[in-house]
Amino acid sequence: KILILDFGSQVTQLIARRVREAHVYSEIHPFDVTIDFIRDFAPKAIILSGGPNSVYESDYQADPALFELGVPVLGICYGMQWMAQSLGGKVESGNVREFGYAEIRARGHSALFRDIQDKTNDQGHGLLDVWMSHGDKVTAVPEGFKVIASNDSCPIAAIADEDRKFYAVQFHPEVTHTKQGTAMINRFVLEIAGAAPSWVMKDYIETAVARIREQVGSDEVILGLSGGVDSSVAAALIHRAIGDQLTCVFVDHGLLRYKEAEQVMEMFAGNLGVKVIHVNAAEDFMKHLEGVSDPEQKRKIIGREFVEVFQQESAKLPSAKWLAQGTIYPDVIESAGSKTKKAHTIKSHHNVGGLPDTLKLQLLEPLRELFKDEVRELGVALGLPPHMVYRHPFPGPGLGVRILGEVKSEFVGLLQRADAIFIEELRNFGWYDKTSQAFAVFLPVKSVGVMGDGRTYDYVVALRAVVTSDFMTAHWAELPYELLGRVSNRIINEVRGINRVVYDVSGKPPATIEWE
Ligand code: XMP
Repeated sequence: KILILDFGSQVTQLIARRVREAHVYSEIHPFDVTIDFIRDFAPKAIILSGGPNSVYESDYQADPALFELGVPVLGICYGMQWMAQSLGGKVESGNVREFGYAEIRARGHSALFRDIQDKTNDQGHGLLDVWMSHGDKVTAVPEGFKVIASNDSCPIAAIADEDRKFYAVQFHPEVTHTKQGTAMINRFVLEIAGAAPSWVMKDYIETAVARIREQVGSDEVILGLSGGVDSSVAAALIHRAIGDQLTCVFVDHGLLRYKEAEQVMEMFAGNLGVKVIHVNAAEDFMKHLEGVSDPEQKRKIIGREFVEVFQQESAKLPSAKWLAQGTIYPDVIESAGSKTKKAHTIKSHHNVGGLPDTLKLQLLEPLRELFKDEVRELGVALGLPPHMVYRHPFPGPGLGVRILGEVKSEFVGLLQRADAIFIEELRNFGWYDKTSQAFAVFLPVKSVGVMGDGRTYDYVVALRAVVTSDFMTAHWAELPYELLGRVSNRIINEVRGINRVVYDVSGKPPATIEWE
């Protein structure tokens, strides 16, 4: 196993992720763990993360005795600077902060870079595109070390003491911008440190289960199940760990997809045998939404009601000491980032599951260090059906923001059925997995149509399908006409009350993915 010492970088988790991708087990611990802890941990190698401080003026100092354990060490950014300083080199403030892409020349035949390159220059040296983000730099190399990469602005971009297997890089191999980053981390972990690539998701479950058991002991835990991927996987994992000590509260606001509530109950209460309290609060929500047509207002009401219902239900479980949440790593980074930068609110993303701390419960967040794709992989390994785990994202306020204007139960029924047809046909045509998100939107306007011999005067449904990697920008999906035609025919024939179907061909920006 690999020990990652965290000096406070925003991307330390990415190092862990890269090591997991190499199928090696790793743990992240704070930089100031004791040398006894490190010895007991018995790491195959140690990776020192980046961090926001300056080594020569900060108390972010690990115990340099770790260099005497005979274990390979890889220092990244601050980790490199701390390594250099601790072993007798010198670190100074650079005149300018370097931030962004850089090209470095890999020198000599270091085990870390051998045969790893993006291109070669005229002299046959390997060139690497890397991601830099630093103010300080190493200006004198410790004894026993050689410079193994450099460029003009950073003459000491990587160093190595090949005998002791100490390596350090000023750039960030853990971020995807460093194209060969994965190759370098694989090289260090698998070849230089000789760790066995034997760690799989099954092992992750065992570790996570043990950790949850240790954390909660014999306490009871409650979890707000929404039907979404994250809360579902969290529920399955925690249930695996503590069985009936877990109670899930499924607040059904009546704005879910077609038959989704039934599916959630069947899956969790039925197949997995999880204790689930199904709160059918549809009427309540509908009552509070009456007469409200402003999107932000609707979001606020749905969010507030959700919390209220959840609190009422959890008050009925006074012995619960823990609140479990399906927080995943991107949520952690986002909320850390939002403290420093204020983004303009386009939509107040209420996420069902975001609960206030008035519940006086301790937080249990077993997915906190995983990325979405890892959460999905974990879900499948826990026995959740792939079609559920690989489902498109669904907003917390659900159909509440897909029925434009005032939400009425009549509209909910129409939209659910139209949406189900769209999704079913997307799957039939093999397009579901080619789109990132697809759904139907209900437009509360009536248009004239003709059906058989009669005139109709009914509502319109818009289809929306987008392709995106980050949901910040998106392209509308170029769905085949045949598919669109089939969906339109089916909706108009099968959903009485809809007589017109349109396809949304707007990108984001300037449009957003949802219509509200
Ligand atoms: P927009 O419409 O802002 O959507 O382009 C980007 C992504 O966010 C989802 N979304 C929400 N998710 N609560 C959520 O949990 C919300 O209020 C909300 N509004 C939009 C949307 O489905 C898309 O995936």
